[in-house]
Amino acid sequence: MKKTLVVANWKMAPRNLLEAKSLLSSLKRLANKSNVSLVVAPPAPFISSFGASLRGGNLFLGAQDVSFYEGGAHTGEYSAAMLRSCNVSYVIVGHSERRGAGETNDMVAKKVRAALDAKLKVILCIGEHNRDKDGEYLEELRTQMRESLHGIFASDLKNMVIAYEPVWAIGRTAAFALPSSELVQTALFIRKVLSELFDNGSALSLQILYGGSVERGNAESIAECGAVTGALVGHASLSSEEFADVVAAFDQ
Ligand code: PGA
Repeated sequence: MKKTLVVANWKMAPRNLLEAKSLLSSLKRLANKSNVSLVVAPPAPFISSFGASLRGGNLFLGAQDVSFYEGGAHTGEYSAAMLRSCNVSYVIVGHSERRGAGETNDMVAKKVRAALDAKLKVILCIGEHNRDKDGEYLEELRTQMRESLHGIFASDLKNMVIAYEPVWAIGRTAAFALPSSELVQTALFIRKVLSELFDNGSALSLQILYGGSVERGNAESIAECGAVTGALVGHASLSSEEFADVVAAFDQ
């Protein structure tokens, strides 16, 4: 069983480096007293400063995106090797907000490959846009997984984590998050698709996180349902007190 992982996806916050460093200090204190592995994924401008101050322990540095190019004329992009050289361990790939800005499954697959080749661990985000009662959203998930994992081998999966984030549940409040009974079913479906794409062993061992309005009010029921071994936390990771409560719920 893999160690529980809780990821703080800060998105485009906080407002400046000073505030970011202060939030990082509270995360370091939290990581020191927690058994859960923590990842902080700050905005790209803060990465190199954070990388210089994070060495070892339970808190790892993550990036919110990566280019699939190794280098060259790609203004605004940064490579997996650059991230690695700044002490980044994890990269979030295929977040719905990146997909919403035009990232396709094909691009996601290339980013996953580039990140793995640079020895980064990948947090691959998947999730349906809507839930329909006929279950068509399951096909959306299957296609997303098949195409986003194109070119990935079973042997790569030990360096990957799936973050299941239903798009409709992101950025809302705990009351609107996916109920844990439905999370159990969806996690089973994800493992079924993984077994179709790879093999049963890989399907069972790959770590799945839940994301989408994880807050202190629902973290416990998500942790207790047993379907996932951690969470990808957006807005609730910007308050050190609330994030500590979320982490505590997974630290059982
Ligand atoms: P949220 O974001 O916790 O604010 O819903 C999660 C995410 O988008 O990763």
